[in-house]
Amino acid sequence: MPVHVLGNMCDMERLMALAQKHNITVIEDSTEALGSYYKGKHVGSFGIMGTFSFNGNKIITTGGGGMIVTDDEGLAKKAKHLTTQAKSDPFEYVHDEIGYNYRLVNTAAAMGVAQMEQLPDFIKRKHEIINFYKSELTGVGDITFQEVSNNVNPNWWLPTIMTEKQKGLLKKLNDNKMQSRPFWVPMNQLVMFNNNLYINKNDRSDYVYQRCLSIPCSTNISDVQLEMVAKTIKQFF
Ligand SMILES: Cc1ncc(COP(=O)(O)O)c(C=O)c1O
Repeated sequence: MPVHVLGNMCDMERLMALAQKHNITVIEDSTEALGSYYKGKHVGSFGIMGTFSFNGNKIITTGGGGMIVTDDEGLAKKAKHLTTQAKSDPFEYVHDEIGYNYRLVNTAAAMGVAQMEQLPDFIKRKHEIINFYKSELTGVGDITFQEVSNNVNPNWWLPTIMTEKQKGLLKKLNDNKMQSRPFWVPMNQLVMFNNNLYINKNDRSDYVYQRCLSIPCSTNISDVQLEMVAKTIKQFF
């Protein structure tokens, strides 16, 4: 299950070759990369399934819920069955396996359709935002941006920078009412997984966790607000 984070995409050619070699099924968590492409192919269309969340903070939202994409009709039917309570009879309340009520209700789906129509404009704005930040913040302190390979055309959902001064900068921005968030706490550090085996060579997830922060990037942020964020970051360094 590759997770395409922040709008960027994993190296799908390499990953799919490995999966094929070892006969491993791939399901892509494409949530953060809706509208991103790898060599012209849309995220979520490499593996047997792609999943997308429409949570409130995503590039488009239905308030909650999400979707699965697949070109396997059997799997699509199975997913539909499991997410609609696994009823096997249209009249009687017979369930032939354990199902779930994971429907994206009609009203939310309608909102999703309308949101989807706006996706190109949202992506355009996200590109303007990252281009602005890159032009303003490249060379400031020890800031680096996420690397994107030439094969990927990202949606730039969540501009995120890396710095040794992560904690101080987070405080500075949030103290100035500029919402800025740390990276996810690695799952192996969460209390419920404390006793699970964690295999790593370099603990990259902790490295990233200690240094990354996401900076303000809502599609409705104004140019003036962007300038204030950049100015505040420069002042900090
Ligand atoms: C990569 C990724 N996968 C899954 C989720 C969770 O999706 P949901 O809350 O719709 O289950 C999120 C965030 O919401 C996410 O960023």
